Amino acid sequence: MSNSPQTIINIKELVGILPKNQLLKKGLQMNEISTINDAFLKINEGIIEDFGSMKDLNLTETQNIFDANQGLVLPSWNDSHTHLVFAKSREKEFIDKINGLSYQEIAKRGGGILNSVKHLEEINENLLFEQSKKKLSDLIKLGTGAIEIKSGYGLSLEGELKILRTVQKLKENFNINIKSTFLGAHAIPLEFKKNRNGYIDLLINEMLPNIAKENLADYIDVFCETNYFSVEELDLILKAGNKYNLKPKVHVNQFTSIGGIKKAIEYNAVSVDHLEVMKENDINELKNSDTIATLLPSCSFFINIPYAPANKLINNDIAFALASDYNPGSSPNGNMNLVNSIACINMKVLPQTAINASTINGAYAMEISELTGSITVGKQANLILTKPTESYPYLLYSFGENCIEKTMVKGKWYN
Ligand code: NIG
Ligand code: FE
Repeated sequence: MSNSPQTIINIKELVGILPKNQLLKKGLQMNEISTINDAFLKINEGIIEDFGSMKDLNLTETQNIFDANQGLVLPSWNDSHTHLVFAKSREKEFIDKINGLSYQEIAKRGGGILNSVKHLEEINENLLFEQSKKKLSDLIKLGTGAIEIKSGYGLSLEGELKILRTVQKLKENFNINIKSTFLGAHAIPLEFKKNRNGYIDLLINEMLPNIAKENLADYIDVFCETNYFSVEELDLILKAGNKYNLKPKVHVNQFTSIGGIKKAIEYNAVSVDHLEVMKENDINELKNSDTIATLLPSCSFFINIPYAPANKLINNDIAFALASDYNPGSSPNGNMNLVNSIACINMKVLPQTAINASTINGAYAMEISELTGSITVGKQANLILTKPTESYPYLLYSFGENCIEKTMVKGKWYN
């Protein structure tokens, strides 16, 4: 029943139409979005079969009709950077932040990532899966139709496997596109504090081969940052990942610019993520590459750090995606609607730019933009249907409101 052909009618505005061969929006293209008012959309076998103006629609009696009732339809969000599989929230650090401590100061006191590592050690894998399932299901209702999920709270062979096996189970239990990323180089665990080379050894010679053997990762990530992992260490780890065909998606330039972007691009990184602190040479490196930037405005919002220079990227003909960075420390938010609003308000990007960054470009940042990320005949019907709404800027303007009526995953309405 659910995969039988259906036609959505009375769509007030169909948003995010792209030709089949356009897999990315770059630079000034990001400021334009194609729409049709008073539209219909036909779906067959989970795939977008046709769309157009209501006045051109020929309805036969046998068709399965769904009335959008003047809601908007847009491609679902593609959230290309999350740490969704974590054991516990960290609201105590939230209070510390209010009382004036910075993200780095909290980390120095043993809070931060290492706090989540402790929590992960204490939770059993079944409960971790149940909790993660609930989180993911909530996000799908909020419009997320594809997601990348990182490890990085294990920092031991068992711990990293626990997270990545959980992501694997999510892949098996959900119909959305999910990508997994091995982030063993998220922090140096306590027991290796005086022996960081020992940890990097373990990561390269034990974790990586075991993860590859079980086929648990699509990508490799490193938190390349002052006080975390250096560019030389990034090089070593990406080289090791390369042997297992793991392309990089890396954390760089969050607090300092130390050369991580250049190095990641040398390894053909799919994306470089964060980019709150950018020097001219970082911009130049990106300009001449196929690597996409991934910006995380709700992280800047939550820990009060500068926002990535989105408009500067656009003016340099660079493509960027927006993602939630959903994690318990720097962005306890996976709601992409809010991420888009924050991007508009604080990065000063236009609503259509944010939507492009969260749909087609998010898909590109997970290497799935041939399958999803736009209203295109032949792509998966991964859609957001809103409540009756005048036009798409309202969705981001009305930042605290849930405007979503229903979401669709591969042609099926999601409950
Ligand atoms: O992307 N910056 C590094 N990692 C995460 C935060 C992780 C945490 O604080 O638990 C981030 O912001
Ligand atoms: Fe992150």
